[in-house]
Amino acid sequence: MAIQYKFPEGFWWGSATSATQMEGAASEGGKGLNIWDYWYSQEPNRFFEGVGPESTSDFYHTYKQDIKRMKEIGHNTFRLSISWSRFIPGGEGEVNQEAVTFYNNVIDELIANDIEPFVNLFHFDMPLEMQEKGGWESREVVEAYTTYAKKAYEFFGDRVKKWFTFNEPIVPVEGGYLYDFHYPNVVDAKRAFQVAYNTMIAHAKAVEAFRTFDYPDSKIGIILNLTPSYPRSQNPADLKASNICDLFFNRSFLDPAVKGEYPKELVDLLEEHGQLPEMEKGDAQLLKNNTVDILGVNYYQPRRVKAKEHLPNPYSPFMPDWFFDNYEMPGRKMNPYRGWEIYEKGIYDIMINLKENYGNIESFISENGMGVQNEERFIKDGRIEDDYRIEFIQGHLEWLHKAIQEGCNAKGYHLWTFLDNWSWMNAYKNRYGFFSVDLETKERTAKKSAYWFTEVSKNNGF
Ligand code: BG6
Repeated sequence: MAIQYKFPEGFWWGSATSATQMEGAASEGGKGLNIWDYWYSQEPNRFFEGVGPESTSDFYHTYKQDIKRMKEIGHNTFRLSISWSRFIPGGEGEVNQEAVTFYNNVIDELIANDIEPFVNLFHFDMPLEMQEKGGWESREVVEAYTTYAKKAYEFFGDRVKKWFTFNEPIVPVEGGYLYDFHYPNVVDAKRAFQVAYNTMIAHAKAVEAFRTFDYPDSKIGIILNLTPSYPRSQNPADLKASNICDLFFNRSFLDPAVKGEYPKELVDLLEEHGQLPEMEKGDAQLLKNNTVDILGVNYYQPRRVKAKEHLPNPYSPFMPDWFFDNYEMPGRKMNPYRGWEIYEKGIYDIMINLKENYGNIESFISENGMGVQNEERFIKDGRIEDDYRIEFIQGHLEWLHKAIQEGCNAKGYHLWTFLDNWSWMNAYKNRYGFFSVDLETKERTAKKSAYWFTEVSKNNGF
């Protein structure tokens, strides 16, 4: 079959996951507790069907066979995260040798299979003791994270050439401090902005530390969920709402990470409402000096917004949502299982924005995917026929291809995710993998999309 969408030579084909969601072995190998282990022990009812992070997809024990499967379906790259509480139980102090052995084995096995490991340092999984010290509200925790990052570079930096400081750092802000879907379940915007700010400081310190190592052909970046804010209309009130949304949810991390400074409009808005976080002398310079080499873009859904229908209750807690309402565009294409809109062109709009406004920084799609409930109903002859997922990936790749044709600096595409994995409060509700996982036996079975992806990777297009 003729290839209609050919990608540039050396394009990164692969997938992404995170430690807590995939490793399992939560109380094995000397791992300390993280906030997920703890929260689940306190409130198991808040997790879909009461399933917690104890064993997830068991990668800790099956990594060898899983990496073989990655190879078989055409991965040339794969992103994992290091679990801070496994590597340094308690978050500070001694490195856990069992964790070093595990991550060394995984990294070596990937490389032996010609799969380049991309390693992320923080994917929502704060060690419990660090949370007890104040989590990202505390500068002490920022320092402990920096030390953890240095240790990771020291132990694995000879082989890992792509590092990421954080995955979607805004999500713990939203989940933990605004909207009550992550521990510590606080609802307090002022604290949320402090968490966001200190996370950026931790990020910049980890970048700064990375550059003290002599790893000349390595790169460091961050992974952001960039969700374009589309206004309902061109009416100035709708445009204003979408601009504020963009400031809060995209530019709050994108600007400091890539440009080394916060947008003035955002700072002014927070100041006007008495919500500015505490800053320290030297922070601005730190951010300025430590911008990223590479940007991972996670994209699942667009955000559609409109001007507020009603004035916010002045007695309610301050929220970003004081400035906009979500807009349910009639006729929008939905993934009804996850409740997210599917809008493939969003990927193109993000890339064009990076090209035009962010120096065309080197980037890649670090997550994109489709979570579907009860996928067993699509089983035919023992395999899940996930044509909807193939269609989803293909639709996004077509727009990514167009962006590249127009000069965008996108180097790869990673699906979320390789194996069905544990999705935080949603646990195993929505399945995203190229491989399904039987939760009882942990047996893996390739879905139709895995076979399709093998061809795409082999042909470097479709
Ligand atoms: C991203 C995260 O936000 O989306 C993943 O990096 C997450 O950790 C994925 O699992 C899918 O979202 P969800 O909420 O369906 O798990």
